[in-house]
Amino acid sequence: MHHRFEPEPFRRISVAAPDLAGNEEAYVVEAIRSGWVSSSGEFLERFEREFAAACGTRHAVACSNGTTALHLALTTLGVSRGDEVIVPATTFVATANAVRFCNATPVFVDVDRDTWCLDPRGVAAAVGPRTAGIIPVHLLGHPVDMDAINAIAEQHGLWVVEDAAEAHFATYRGRPVGSLADAAAFSFFGNKIVTGGEGGAVTFSRDDLARRMRMLRSHGMDLARRYHFPIVGFNYRMSNLTAALLCAQLERRAALVARRRAIVRLYGERLRLQTGLVHRTDAHWAGVSPWLMAVLVDHDGFGLDRDALMATLAARGIETRPLFPPLHHMPPYRRFAARQGISSLPVAEWLGATGLMLPTHPLMTDDDVAFVCDQIAAAGRSRTLRRAA
Ligand SMILES: Cc1ncc(COP(=O)(O)O)c(C=O)c1O
Repeated sequence: MHHRFEPEPFRRISVAAPDLAGNEEAYVVEAIRSGWVSSSGEFLERFEREFAAACGTRHAVACSNGTTALHLALTTLGVSRGDEVIVPATTFVATANAVRFCNATPVFVDVDRDTWCLDPRGVAAAVGPRTAGIIPVHLLGHPVDMDAINAIAEQHGLWVVEDAAEAHFATYRGRPVGSLADAAAFSFFGNKIVTGGEGGAVTFSRDDLARRMRMLRSHGMDLARRYHFPIVGFNYRMSNLTAALLCAQLERRAALVARRRAIVRLYGERLRLQTGLVHRTDAHWAGVSPWLMAVLVDHDGFGLDRDALMATLAARGIETRPLFPPLHHMPPYRRFAARQGISSLPVAEWLGATGLMLPTHPLMTDDDVAFVCDQIAAAGRSRTLRRAA
C-alpha cells in the first residue's frame, strides 16, 4: 500500500446532496428482487397515490423529470403553435424550453422585488389576444401569489400551470402547491427537496386531464387497448426503481423539509448581521418550503461583487451557484423578447447579476452553515479593511 502525506483534510461543502438514509436502499433492492424495474410496479402506484395526497389533488402522474412534466402538462392542456405563454424571466430555463417544445412563444414578465416570484402586476400588463396561459414558478420554495394569478387567468380565460419543481410541500394561504391551478409540474432531480435521482410528476384535480397525460407520457397509447394510439405521444415514463426511491423519500418528507427550514433560518440569523447582503422578504401568506438559500450581494455595501465572492468561497471549498440569469437575455429567447418590445426587466436583471445560491441540503450540519457564514463575513470584512487601509 502506497501512503503519501495528506495535509489537513480540506473541508468541501457542496451546494446540494441527497439524504438517502431511510428506506431508499431497501426499497430499490425490493424493486429489483420483484423484477419490476421498468415503467409499472407497486412503487409507482404507491408514489402516485401518496404524492397526490400530499398535494391535496385527485391525481399525480409520474414521469421522467421536471422538464417532461412541464412538457406533458402543456401538451395535456393543448398548448400549440401561435399560443403565447407568460413565464417569469427569473427561473430555470426548462420553464421556457417546455413552451418552445410546443412551438408556443414564451412572454417574459418581471418578478417581484420582495418575493423574487412572478409579479401579478406584470402578468396583467402582458396579457394579449394570443395569450393562452401562465406558468407561475414557485422560486426557491416560495409560492407565487396564486389568487392574483388565478384572478387574471379567470378574467381572460387562460389556463395556469404551476412550476413547483423547487417547492415541494410549500403552502399558499394554507393550501399546498400543486393544488392551486389546472396542473402543477414537479421535479425530483438529485438536488431537489425530495428526489428520485431523476424524476417528475404532474398533479391534476380533473380526471380527464390526468387520463390524457397518462396517454401522452406513454406513446399516446389508449389506456384500455394495447397498441392502439389515438394521439401522438412521448415516452416520458418514470421507472419503478425511481419510484422506490421516491416512496422512501416521501416517508421522511416532514423531516427533510424541517431540516432545510432550520438551515435557512440559521443562515438568515447569521447573515443578517452582515452588511451588503439583501435577503428575500417572505410574504405573510407564504408557507415556504426552502430549496436553496439565496442572498443578493450588493457590491458597494459588501465590498466585493457576487462573482468575486463566489471565487473566494470556492477557494475555501464552498460550492455556490449564481441565481438564474434572466431568460430574456439567453440566445434562444432574445429574439422573442425583442419582438415583444421587452428591453429591460429590472428585478430579474438585478437578481441575475447579484444573486448567490448557498449550500443547502439535509446532510449539512449547523457547524457547516456557520462555517459558510464565517467565510462570507471574512470575505466582506477583509476587503473592507483593505480598502480602508
Ligand atoms: C423551476 C424549475 N423548473 C423545471 C426544472 C426542471 O426539472 P428537471 O431538472 O427535473 O428536468 C427545474 C430544475 O431542474 C426547476 O428548477
